Amino acid sequence: MRVVILPQADDVSRRAAELISDCVRKKPNAVLGLATGGTPLGTYDELIRLYEAGEISFRNVTTFNLDEYVGLSPQHEQSYHHFMRANLFSKADFDLAKCHVPNGLADDYASYCEAYEQQIREAGGVDLQLLGIGTDGHIAFNEPSSSLASRTRLKALTEVTRQDNARFFAPGEEVPSLTVTMGVGTILESRKIVLLATGSKKADAVRAFIEGPVSSQVTASALQLHPRVVVLIDELAAAHLERQDYYKEVERVQRQVEQRQPLHR
Ligand code: PGA
Repeated sequence: MRVVILPQADDVSRRAAELISDCVRKKPNAVLGLATGGTPLGTYDELIRLYEAGEISFRNVTTFNLDEYVGLSPQHEQSYHHFMRANLFSKADFDLAKCHVPNGLADDYASYCEAYEQQIREAGGVDLQLLGIGTDGHIAFNEPSSSLASRTRLKALTEVTRQDNARFFAPGEEVPSLTVTMGVGTILESRKIVLLATGSKKADAVRAFIEGPVSSQVTASALQLHPRVVVLIDELAAAHLERQDYYKEVERVQRQVEQRQPLHR
């Protein structure tokens, strides 16, 4: 796991956008796994800026979102369909026919979820999956006790997550308790994973998934089993990591290698 500690949330957004745009420049028809929530917004703003500057095109990109609330229509303002259109898809040259967000209104979820997995496979699999992390250590909506081999399916939210996400809903409006989400096993099949975390509220979850044991109680810890994970965090989110100095040293050497600078003098 490559743990990159950056000064501020803006630096995290810029670095994440760099990784995504490098991926799309190398492979214009890349398959991106996308996330919702407060954390990736800065990354999406940066991608839109790069698009407006003529530095990147998403025309041939395919996307798959991680999750959606069950019971919300794509038009609902708090649906993740709406979130993605409002914050990214409508602001750059995405081909909406290639942008997939799980359906919160499916009739038969067993067959719908299998079809979503099939669509990912038919697109060639996810090249780069962007992730946030919940305060309870979830990735996508894989709440504590989710199987680390799970596939796309329905998942009930913990009370903690519902409270965390209440800020996106109008006062008095209920946060749905059920979601449709890619599984941990689905996510682990992505070729590369970039997880973002910013702010002190995430410091415990960050420590648990990087330095704690692999456990279904902290589903992000399953990323320890994946060979190509980049964790981009700001100083606040990194605050509880025991080996901060070591990660910074590894990153310094890694940058030297990438920039082909001499390692010995
Ligand atoms: P957030 O959500 O970015 O809004 O903090 C992250 C998550 O729940 O995965």
